Amino acid sequence: MNESRLGEELRKEMESLIGPLAQSLSRVILETDKRIALPPGSELALADFAEVLPERGCGATKTIEHLLELNTAAGGNTGGPRCFHFVIGGSTPAAMAADLLATAYEAVTYTWLLSPVGVRMELQALDWLKEMFGLPRAWPGVMVTGATMANFVCLAAARQWWSEQHGFDVSETGLSGMPQMPVLTSGFVHASTLKVMAVQGIGRANVQQYVRDDFGRIDLDALENALVELKGQPALVIINAGEVNAGEFDPLREMIALARQHNCWVHVDGAFGLFARLSPRTAHFVDGVEEADSVTVDGHKWLNVPYDSGYAFVRDHDLLARAFRYSADYLPDEHSDRPTPGAIGPESSRRARSFAVWATIKAYGREGHQRIVEHCLDLAQYLAQQVTEAPDLELINDVQLNIVAFRYNPGNLGETRLNDLNEQLGEAVLADGRFLVGTSKIGARTVFRPAFSNWRTRFSDLEEFTEVLLAIAKRLPRAPDQ
Ligand SMILES: Cc1ncc(COP(=O)(O)O)c(C=O)c1O
Repeated sequence: MNESRLGEELRKEMESLIGPLAQSLSRVILETDKRIALPPGSELALADFAEVLPERGCGATKTIEHLLELNTAAGGNTGGPRCFHFVIGGSTPAAMAADLLATAYEAVTYTWLLSPVGVRMELQALDWLKEMFGLPRAWPGVMVTGATMANFVCLAAARQWWSEQHGFDVSETGLSGMPQMPVLTSGFVHASTLKVMAVQGIGRANVQQYVRDDFGRIDLDALENALVELKGQPALVIINAGEVNAGEFDPLREMIALARQHNCWVHVDGAFGLFARLSPRTAHFVDGVEEADSVTVDGHKWLNVPYDSGYAFVRDHDLLARAFRYSADYLPDEHSDRPTPGAIGPESSRRARSFAVWATIKAYGREGHQRIVEHCLDLAQYLAQQVTEAPDLELINDVQLNIVAFRYNPGNLGETRLNDLNEQLGEAVLADGRFLVGTSKIGARTVFRPAFSNWRTRFSDLEEFTEVLLAIAKRLPRAPDQ
């Protein structure tokens, strides 16, 4: 039989593409420090993006050239040194290289059979992570897309436990006829957890937050009273290790001790905060995390592996397997020598996130990752010092981790006007494009909350950041105070 022309054409195209692609990759990666954080006018550059479906494509070479142009015009440089928005990490060289190879090998880690090495690397890397964070070696872990999905896995396990405490199996019979699952936490709880509660039928409005101040810190007495009132009913206590506005921690040991007296599942969301464990300067914040039942950690934040990468760790393997049970005649059974990560997590087909995680820990070890964490702790302290020294900037938080909350405050303005001014300034800084940074609210105050989790960021970037921010602030039109 004649080979199809399609196969021949695509093989030739791959051969001619790969040389220029290697050059483009090298340029894109090596220019990361220089690329602007957010090209100004990206909306305009993308204005005519609504193309009709191409009947005949223009081929890979032209398409990739176009993709590169579009990214020059409108790509956010989130891996660059001047992205302080949300909590966004960079990529170590080893992680970047390994992740590119995961794509090149087209590795699938649903089950051992498809990529024995990808699955083994996952288990090895998860063991290393457990050791780094002081979690028990016996806990199963699963790699997912990020902390949202890790929270999804952990809450699915919690929900399974809770239903079994009531004598049901929620994964078989659903929630119908069940009481509401009590969920207790502080004001630090992350929005992704509420999303998970929404989709798992727990209900996002069902969260009970015990808050004592504007930062969202826990009111432990109120939590205790609420637990006592439950009279031993099974409940979920969520501990937030590293919250997004000021990088604070719930008091982990106290909350676990309370939860243990009251028949609770304890989940710790340590998306970025768990990395505090890597430095003696901050390890005390997460002391005792090994006493929890489930733990969320992100990789694409402070581990500095490419998107997307997050990890769920759960104390009880069988519970996890019951929550995500999954079988069909054509699928393999779970087998301890030939594991199927797809059977203990939400995804079936899944890319080999393990390559990058394994490679970065192999290449830099625990010590290398401690250095990344401590570099970011130093960056946060350095920015806090600059803010304190600048007459028109006001530091809002006691900087403990990698987030600095501050606002522009030139004096003599009421709170409403200050909030408007900081919101306006936030938009103006983003429109300028040299820095990607966000604002948030602490109580009624609008604040900037730059977060540092990228090895690429330099102290000089921070000096320039405060200069740029103050220069833009001076140019803002000033409305009279209301
Ligand atoms: C504490 C916490 N939990 C969960 C998430 C969600 O993480 P992801 O965006 O990786 O899904 C974040 C993201 O910033 C976070 O900071």
